[in-house]
Amino acid sequence: LPAAMAMDMSGMNMTSTKGRTSSIPKPVFSGTLPIPPVYTGGWGHDKVREYHLRIGGGHSTLHPGLETATWGYNGAVLGPALRIPRGQPVRLYVHNGLDQSTTTHWHGAHVPGTMDGGPQSLILPGKTWTYGYTIDQPEATLWYHPHPAGRTGPHVYAGLAGLYLVEDGTDRRLGLPHHWGVDDIPVIVQDRLLDARGRLVYMPQAMDVMGMKGNRFLINGRESPILKVPAQWLRLRLLNASNARIYNFALTGDQTFYVIASDAGYLESPVRVQRLLLAPAERAEILLDLRAMEGKRLWLRSDSAAVIPGLSLHPMDSDQFDRSNFNLLEIQVDTATSTGGQLPDHLVDIPRLQANAGSRRFTLRGMAMDKMPLAQQALAKALHNGPAQMSMGVGREPLFSINNQYMNMQVINQRLRLGSTEIWEVYNDAEMAHTFHVHGTSFQILSRNGKAPPAYEAGWKDTLLIRRAETVRFIAHYGHPAPDDFPYMYHCHMLEHEDNGMMGQFTVS
Ligand code: C2O
Ligand code: CU
Repeated sequence: LPAAMAMDMSGMNMTSTKGRTSSIPKPVFSGTLPIPPVYTGGWGHDKVREYHLRIGGGHSTLHPGLETATWGYNGAVLGPALRIPRGQPVRLYVHNGLDQSTTTHWHGAHVPGTMDGGPQSLILPGKTWTYGYTIDQPEATLWYHPHPAGRTGPHVYAGLAGLYLVEDGTDRRLGLPHHWGVDDIPVIVQDRLLDARGRLVYMPQAMDVMGMKGNRFLINGRESPILKVPAQWLRLRLLNASNARIYNFALTGDQTFYVIASDAGYLESPVRVQRLLLAPAERAEILLDLRAMEGKRLWLRSDSAAVIPGLSLHPMDSDQFDRSNFNLLEIQVDTATSTGGQLPDHLVDIPRLQANAGSRRFTLRGMAMDKMPLAQQALAKALHNGPAQMSMGVGREPLFSINNQYMNMQVINQRLRLGSTEIWEVYNDAEMAHTFHVHGTSFQILSRNGKAPPAYEAGWKDTLLIRRAETVRFIAHYGHPAPDDFPYMYHCHMLEHEDNGMMGQFTVS
């Protein structure tokens, strides 16, 4: 565990947070939204574009007036937005400056298993892992984060996450807003629990079974910040980088906005909405029409995700945070610049995949309702002691399963043929919503409970939300190899579920 957080955990009295005293503080918006810098890399001796990332600890101002020990890539918290040109070889050096091993996974990137940064790719303290590959997939806002077995939750929670922008010139060709930090804004949303001294508190067992949730909402690592933008089309690149929380994004006054991209690429055409539900690890790019709003303010907010049917039946998950409406980001609209973007009618053509191999079925299970009290204790024990135990090399009891199997690094759960295009069907037999993420590819959702997915989900995805009793079918092409010693993962991206069994391994060969 991060030193900062380990201290916090030992210093915390479990019963003090158990009483649900931590309601959402009324947000006071102040300070400027931090914008993670874009990192385009430099040229290596062999004309390969190179990126250097250093993982380390530092101090951050997550909340004005408080200093928090955090982890980051090339800084105290989060990381730069990597600009990865499609079709050109890149090399990424990741140095681990922590006192414990971790990994760096390129979430959503189509890279071979050996370059995927999954649980097998441990970077020991003081060591550097070198990744080399060429990305060939549509322009998209992907991200990177740690993926060590059993410790992904605390490592991401400590601050390790960054954007990974695959670029092929589509946004410029379409005239979309593309001025980084001006009208093209990264919005990394995370919730955190801080103690009175500003220290991160990681104790998911005190919160609910969905995993670690906090009562403070950070955008790009800052609570309740203000974003000043010109009165023109505004592009927000939303990433739900929270460990376990689902957001139902909305704007003040239910103003409409346009979804132009899902996780792994642009939609065929913009989809007009007033709400957008994003589960952990899901992304969306949205466009807001601010052309007639000079001098006005509005807020990006989350609106009552918990009252949406199928997310949870769980008494333990009915925490007050999800039932409230809360503002996340204040947007102040200023004078327009001369370089505004536009909202095109048509974005891209998406070829529809055709299966060329058999399909597979997965069943997600969690704790049964009638076993709750006991299971809660087990969860509390596992999650509370887990990270510390893991760092001492001791396993723990898993709680969430896929096909009644718990994650086991020694077991390959599925074997796929290289070049296959398969339909996977995932059924959620648990008491709460889960998510499902597949490494090394992007997929197209075919159906949700037999019906076509909503239009904003009709493009490329790599993570999806699966409600209670829902069956989702999706299709993906597996075009890169993943050998037995570096398999790909499929898992729930609620990190405390992933860390507690809800993950499987597959090879592609
Ligand atoms: Cu974003 Cu397997 O991870
Ligand atoms: Cu889950």
